[in-house]
Amino acid sequence: MTKIQAAITGVNGWVPPYRLTNAELETMIDTSDEWITTRTGIKERRILKGEKMGTSVIGTHAVKGLLEKTKTKPEEIDLLICATVTPDMQYPATANIISENCGIKNALSFDMNAACSGFLFALNTAAKYVESGGYKKVIVVGADKMSSIVDYTDRATCVIFGDGGAAVMLEPNTEGYGIVNALLHVDGSGMQYLHQVAGGSAMPPSHETIDNKLHYVHQEGQSVFKFAVTNMADVAAAIMEKNNLKSDDVAWLVPHQANLRIIDATARRMGLNTDKVMINIQRYGNTTNGTLPLCLWEWEDKLKKGDNIVLTAFGGGFTWGAMYLKWAYDGDKVAK
Ligand code: UT7
Repeated sequence: MTKIQAAITGVNGWVPPYRLTNAELETMIDTSDEWITTRTGIKERRILKGEKMGTSVIGTHAVKGLLEKTKTKPEEIDLLICATVTPDMQYPATANIISENCGIKNALSFDMNAACSGFLFALNTAAKYVESGGYKKVIVVGADKMSSIVDYTDRATCVIFGDGGAAVMLEPNTEGYGIVNALLHVDGSGMQYLHQVAGGSAMPPSHETIDNKLHYVHQEGQSVFKFAVTNMADVAAAIMEKNNLKSDDVAWLVPHQANLRIIDATARRMGLNTDKVMINIQRYGNTTNGTLPLCLWEWEDKLKKGDNIVLTAFGGGFTWGAMYLKWAYDGDKVAK
C-alpha cells in the first residue's frame, strides 16, 4: 500500500493592525527599548483591540483567507483543530466558533492546549488523521490573544507577548512530501514556572482572584529560559539525527519565537546560519500558538517543493518538540 503523508498545501496568517511598540511600553512601565531589544529581540507586537474580540477573530481571518487562497469550499473541510491557550470561552471550543464563522459545516472541530508547543502538537495530531486515509482536507489553526491574559503592569511578561495567528491546510500526499516525523515531549514538573493560577476549575474566578491578579500569565522567566534554551536545541538536534540530516540538508528552521537568544542557540546547535532561520519576533513578539504558522506564512514565497524544514517549539507545561517535514509546493507560485 502507498504510504500517505500529511502535506501542508497552503498557509495564511492574520495579525491585528494595532502595533504596541517598545516606545509605547516605555510610557507604561519602567523599561527601555534597549533592554527589550537586547534581552528578547522584540521591537513591537500586535494587539487585538475592541469589545468581545477573542482569539476566534484572529482564527477566522486566517481560515477565511486560507480557504480563498487554496480555492477550497468550506464544506470540503473534514477537520479543524485550533491550538490556543486563550480560547474565546471555556467552552465551546474556539475551533467550533471559527468553523461556524467560516461556513465549515461538515468538519469535526476541537481545540488543543499544549501552551507554546500547541501548534506543533496539533499539527502532529492532524497529520495522524490525514495518514489514516479518512480525512482529506484538514485545517490546523494556531492563534492567541495573549493581551487578554497579560498584566500590563508586570514588565517581566508584558513586553514579550503579542496577538496573532495563522492556519495551514493539510492534505494527503503519496509522493514523499509532507510531515515525516516528530519528537514531542512533556514534563509536568515545569508547571510551577509557567502557568495561569486562576480561572480554571481548581480556582474559579472570584473577587479575590481578580484582586490578586491571578488571571494573568505567571512566568518565572529565568527558569523557563534555562529549560527552553537547552530543550529546544536538544530536540532540534535529535530530530536531525533521527532523520540523518546534516546542517546542509536543512533548508529552513522554523523556531518558536519566545526569545531571540533561544532561537540563536538552537540554530547554532543545528549548525545553521541565520539566513536559514525564520525570525519575525521583532515584529510580533511571542504570539504563543501563532508563532510557527505565522513564520510559514511570511516565508511562504521563499519555500520550494522538496525543502527540508525543521519546526521546533518550547512552552508551558513544560512541553517541547521538533518536527521534520518535506515542503510540498513552490511557495512563489501561490497568489498572496
Ligand atoms: O514561550 C514560552 C516559553 N517562554 C520562554 O521561553 C521565555 C523564557 N524567558 C525569557 O525569555 C527571559 O527570561 C525574559 C525575557 C522573560 C527575561 O529576561 P532575563 O534576561 O531572564 O531577565 P531577568 O528576569 O533575569 O531579569 C533581569 C533584570 C531584573 O532586574 P534586577 O533584578 O537584575 O535588578 C529585572 O527586574 O531585568 C529586569 N527586568 C527588566 N528591566 C527592564 C525584567 N523585565 C524588564 C523590562 N525592562 N521589561
